[in-house]
Amino acid sequence: MPTISSLSICLLALTTFLRTIRAHTVISYPGWRGNNLHSNGTVLDSNGLASYVTANGSTIHPFGMQWEYPCGGMPMSANRTLWPVKGGAIAWQPGWFQGHSSAFMYFNLGLGNSPANYSFVMQNGLNIVGPSKEPYPGTFCLPQVPLPAGLTVNIGDNATIQIIEIALHGAALYNCVDITFADPKDVPEVNETNCFNSSQITSNLIFTTADLSSDSIVLPTRSHAFMSLAVATLLTYLFV
Ligand SMILES: *[C@@H]1O[C@H](CO)[C@@H](O)[C@H](O)[C@H]1NC(C)=O
Ligand SMILES: *[C@@H]1O[C@H](CO)[C@@H](O)[C@H](O)[C@H]1NC(C)=O
Ligand SMILES: *[C@@H]1O[C@H](CO)[C@@H](O)[C@H](O)[C@H]1NC(C)=O
Ligand SMILES: *[C@@H]1O[C@H](CO)[C@@H](O)[C@H](O)[C@H]1NC(C)=O
Ligand SMILES: *[C@@H]1O[C@H](CO)[C@@H](O)[C@H](O)[C@H]1NC(C)=O
Ligand SMILES: *[C@@H]1O[C@H](CO)[C@@H](O)[C@H](O)[C@H]1NC(C)=O
Ligand SMILES: *[C@@H]1O[C@H](CO)[C@@H](O)[C@H](O)[C@H]1NC(C)=O
Repeated sequence: MPTISSLSICLLALTTFLRTIRAHTVISYPGWRGNNLHSNGTVLDSNGLASYVTANGSTIHPFGMQWEYPCGGMPMSANRTLWPVKGGAIAWQPGWFQGHSSAFMYFNLGLGNSPANYSFVMQNGLNIVGPSKEPYPGTFCLPQVPLPAGLTVNIGDNATIQIIEIALHGAALYNCVDITFADPKDVPEVNETNCFNSSQITSNLIFTTADLSSDSIVLPTRSHAFMSLAVATLLTYLFV
């Protein structure tokens, strides 16, 4: 279940992480697979790869986990969040960035227990505009993200929501949350405590609903780089 913590805890976490984090996102609702705000090892150790298994069997992520498609280096989680079968809220914190006063956000769905792809576009792309190039606190929330056009799901079906955030230089940060579709009455209430827009963040749509169906068909056949353009980042609370 998503546990929504107080803003003060959140700000404390922000303060703690600001020193080390250059570009990352947190999904505050409906949660995330886990904390993937890690970077370790060196580019030399990994031969320049984003993730690399060292001789002693431990994996290093010298660039930071969230740059890794499809879910920011996180495997399937054991804890799924109940999410309304007709679509529901997604809240995230876009300001865990430095040098990203503007970012593009995309929201995709992968179907099944362990999705084969994340080609189902849920929501129009969104251009988030923050107050400055420095990291900033603040949450943005879409209270009713629909299911992908033409898709119907049943109560009890499992899926994964993928949020992609595109930095100004075009690279993509990935974050995911595993969900189980539920009757809305069985989903804990979403209200102004866990779904709100902070005043310092604004947004613009970057493409229209009319474009959505064609994009969701074309995406799977395009390159990884193009797919990057299709989703944005989920910002969750930064708990270690
Ligand atoms: C799932 O569990 C991980 C590890 O305990 C935790 O970091 C994460 O926040 C949890 N996610 C949800 C959606 O509860
Ligand atoms: C594994 O090797 C890496 C360097 O390649 C080192 O940083 C890490 O501490 C080692 N881990 C263990 C468990 O020995
Ligand atoms: C690097 O971080 C990942 C993710 O937290 C962790 O699983 C791995 O053990 C770490 N590797 C080393 C060498 O510390
Ligand atoms: C994506 O996954 C869905 C089911 O999850 C499947 O029906 C579809 O064929 C897959 N698309 C591609 C291009 O693999
Ligand atoms: C959904 O996932 C949960 C927990 O991972 C599992 O117990 C359940 O069987 C899955 N549901 C379906 C329809 O596969
Ligand atoms: C908001 O919803 C949560 C459950 O998700 C509940 O615990 C809390 O009391 C609600 N707050 C208000 C102000 O209604
Ligand atoms: C946040 O702003 C977006 C874009 O204007 C809007 O669609 C959404 O409903 C707002 N969220 C809340 C909780 O008011």
